[in-house]
Amino acid sequence: MARSWPVSVRWTLLLLVVILGWLVIPGVAVKRESFKYCSQSGFCKRNRAYADEVSAKGSSWSSPYELEPSTIQFKDSQLHGIIVKTTSENEKVRLPLTVSFLESGAARVVIDEEKRLKGEIDIRHNSQIRKERYNEAEKWAVVGGLDLSKSATLNANTEEGLTKVLYGPGSSFQAIIRHAPFDVEFQRDGETHVQFNKQGYLNMEHWRPKLEPEEDSPEDQSTWWEETFDGNTDSKPRGPESLGLDISFPGYSHVFGIPEHADSLSLRETRGGSGNHEDPYRLYNSDIFEYELNSPMTLYGAIPLMQAHRKDSTVGVFWLNAAETWIDIVKSSSSANPLSLGVGSKTTTHSHWISEAGQLDVFVFLGPSPRDISKIYGELTGYTQLPQQFAIAYHQCRWNYVTDEDVKEVDAQFDKYQIPYDVIWLDVDYTDDRKYFTWDPMTFPNPISMEEQLDDSERKLVVLIDPHIKNEDGYFVSEKMKKQGFAVKNKDGNIYDGHCWPGASNWIDCFNPEAAKWWSTLYRYDKFKGSSPNVFIWNDMNEPSVFDGPEVTMPKDNIHWGNWEHRDIHNVNGVTLLNSTFKALTSRKKGENRRPFILTRSYYAGAQRVAAMWTGDNQATWDHLAITLPMVLNNGISGFPFAGADVGGFFHNPGPELLTRWYQTGIWYPFFRAHAHIETRRREPYLISRPHRDYISQALRLRYQLLPAWYTAFHEASVNGTPIVRPQFYVHPTDEQGFALDDQLYFGSTGLLTKPVVSEGANSADIYISDDEKYYDYFDYTVYQGAKKRHIIPAPIEKVPLLMQGGHVLPRKDRPRRSSGLMKWDPYTLVITLDKNGEADGTLYVDDGESYEYQRGAYIHRSFHFQDSVLSSHDIGTKGSKTAEYLKTMSHVKVEKVIVVDPPKEWQDKVSVTIIEDGVTTGTTASMQYVSQPAGKASYAVVKKPDVAIGKTWRIEF
Ligand code: GLC
Repeated sequence: MARSWPVSVRWTLLLLVVILGWLVIPGVAVKRESFKYCSQSGFCKRNRAYADEVSAKGSSWSSPYELEPSTIQFKDSQLHGIIVKTTSENEKVRLPLTVSFLESGAARVVIDEEKRLKGEIDIRHNSQIRKERYNEAEKWAVVGGLDLSKSATLNANTEEGLTKVLYGPGSSFQAIIRHAPFDVEFQRDGETHVQFNKQGYLNMEHWRPKLEPEEDSPEDQSTWWEETFDGNTDSKPRGPESLGLDISFPGYSHVFGIPEHADSLSLRETRGGSGNHEDPYRLYNSDIFEYELNSPMTLYGAIPLMQAHRKDSTVGVFWLNAAETWIDIVKSSSSANPLSLGVGSKTTTHSHWISEAGQLDVFVFLGPSPRDISKIYGELTGYTQLPQQFAIAYHQCRWNYVTDEDVKEVDAQFDKYQIPYDVIWLDVDYTDDRKYFTWDPMTFPNPISMEEQLDDSERKLVVLIDPHIKNEDGYFVSEKMKKQGFAVKNKDGNIYDGHCWPGASNWIDCFNPEAAKWWSTLYRYDKFKGSSPNVFIWNDMNEPSVFDGPEVTMPKDNIHWGNWEHRDIHNVNGVTLLNSTFKALTSRKKGENRRPFILTRSYYAGAQRVAAMWTGDNQATWDHLAITLPMVLNNGISGFPFAGADVGGFFHNPGPELLTRWYQTGIWYPFFRAHAHIETRRREPYLISRPHRDYISQALRLRYQLLPAWYTAFHEASVNGTPIVRPQFYVHPTDEQGFALDDQLYFGSTGLLTKPVVSEGANSADIYISDDEKYYDYFDYTVYQGAKKRHIIPAPIEKVPLLMQGGHVLPRKDRPRRSSGLMKWDPYTLVITLDKNGEADGTLYVDDGESYEYQRGAYIHRSFHFQDSVLSSHDIGTKGSKTAEYLKTMSHVKVEKVIVVDPPKEWQDKVSVTIIEDGVTTGTTASMQYVSQPAGKASYAVVKKPDVAIGKTWRIEF
């Protein structure tokens, strides 16, 4: 008989467990010893040592890589040749080089290894893996922008030993390729912006047979043939095969990008010294429990895009490699350079890229502006998907809502307290014993009724589906996956076993097109019973996380479909799953036309096309709140702007002040979701006592009020790659004082500037303003003006420090509703702030927020312009087969209010405005009220009920 305790004792025990849980959690920190430093990763250590040796030798050393002049061919904007590496034993290793000049203005440099291309190598341990260097990262990351230039030409004006290619807009770019030693300079308008191998760190570890090292061999082979870390041994059947290259940015003192790291936006130096890191930035997607801040340590995602920025120029490089990668950054002052005499000392940033395997494949972008980088990189890897409207509203998550009744109750409580939300989430424990595509029959007996209740207020449900599949007989997903050979294999070619949430698990291998196709079918309504059209997906743990694997992931010698080693593909692994899930969500039922929503934790370049991301398991501390800003900003400039962080902090329990500030910050994350660990106390906004509950509700209302502007910013990102929230340097690229700022942000193109409060007890925020426009407090129109200095904005706990830059027309929806879906037909408010010339501009993008009909013209895209006391609306969309029908459905959606902040004084006596719709003056007027404010605060004018249709062309004459 089971032993049972009296009720009182059971309660006491339960309480003890909970209290112990609370006591234990705060002590938990990242298990640093489970993750490698560069010195513990053979190839990183070897490449760093190589760089040190080269630097120490100085001018007495010459890089052993030479481009053989007789092999050079230039045809159709591509340069081919063979680089010969001469080893210390005088062996000649042939490395085919291809430099492609693209129509987009990008250049691409690829270096491979001839023997491996030809398959002339032996692989140890009878392994079945491929002989080539991995060359399929492009397949997952790149979707366009590869057309070759039509006009790249050899520059006839050259010198012995150099090949020069003119390319780019108006042939203003030039690649200067030096043959011996091999290096490349990329110039724009005659000035060098990017250099390859100037420092001589180019290092392609070529294949060689394993021989007994000679006794006096200077080479340390201890990490060549196998490597052990934390009790796990990597069998390395191909031996050492890393690649390294230095890329310098002369005259640039800031580099940004290469997410994901919990660090400042402006990347730090990594070779030690005060304020610098000791270790390189690492990109090796990992499940890092309770991660460290201000660290170059790897996190869950990887985008190997780095941009260098200086006063008048932004350039970038994209290192297309899916293997483990480390990047060293060192800055040097080049004042010793005679060429810089007279222009003061300049800083040059040197980066050193080191990957474990694969081809060397790098794209170079020559800017010149940050927007050019967003555009060209987006052309290559794709722009962010235009999400559904609900996806950019507020998401309520926790691990876990425990029953379907619990979900319904949470839903009802939000309504009771009149707090808006759009999506509620189910974490891993909604499933039957952590078997995905099932529901726990005890706790979720009736998911459909739960989904129906949510649907009543246009709300959605997101459920978690992870790539580890419980290894259990009778579980249909497991059985089918194993039977069909769709699981990842171990080094011996058998199904790989590991541990994750369900215990013993196997992993779906979405590199296999058949496996991916099958995975897609699992989401069909008739397969995933209990799911309906308002259910969307969270793909987590897709680094992949393996609790008992090396560095909490898969062994590198595991084998994926196509016989690629896990080593080759690790960083794109997560993307393969996302692609398949994305397909799944567009094919759940024939004829459905609904945009997917997927949240991912792991990512690589290209993931932005199919998913949103969040920054993983953070903590409820002020430091963790603060770091979310540079992290989200960095993702934005790195092509993946649909980013957010767990609001409130995943681990531990935030106090009311921290939680309030976190919501006030979270409303600026493009992906805005509260989430909490299973051992934390419940903290849904309605549970927080007053007055903090009111402050949180107000912040949420602000997010909802600005949803039209959010959607417009997402649209902009989806067509030209601009970040949704933007760092200072991006908006003011010539103001050097603002380059390193990463604690304040601009929201889209709206001119809204905010600096969320991220420290305890603060009562104000010091916002840095770059330009000499007037900035107005969003709530009371207090005026701040003065370029290149900080302005103190009051920010007591109830206030979000938020300014509006002069010169914008901001679209809002002011009527409070329960969800964004219920705001669909609500009227608009336009807020106008005038610039120095008395003008203002803005845009608005609207569609059904749900389907793909916008691709057939079912959308409204307007530009608003204010000049000479006239506000006008212009169509900037292009028409399609569905335009007229859509405009008809929107004809009753009007502008209900126009607010002009700081209007001309002459308006004081005005009481009405004239309205002209579709070019027709009907004599219609609307009332206007001028409100004077005391000194320091701008006056404003309010036009009530102009009632012009949002989709029409009109003028309002003041
Ligand atoms: C991972 C996720 C976290 C989730 C948990 C349980 O730790 O990062 O968000 O709650 O798994 O599924």
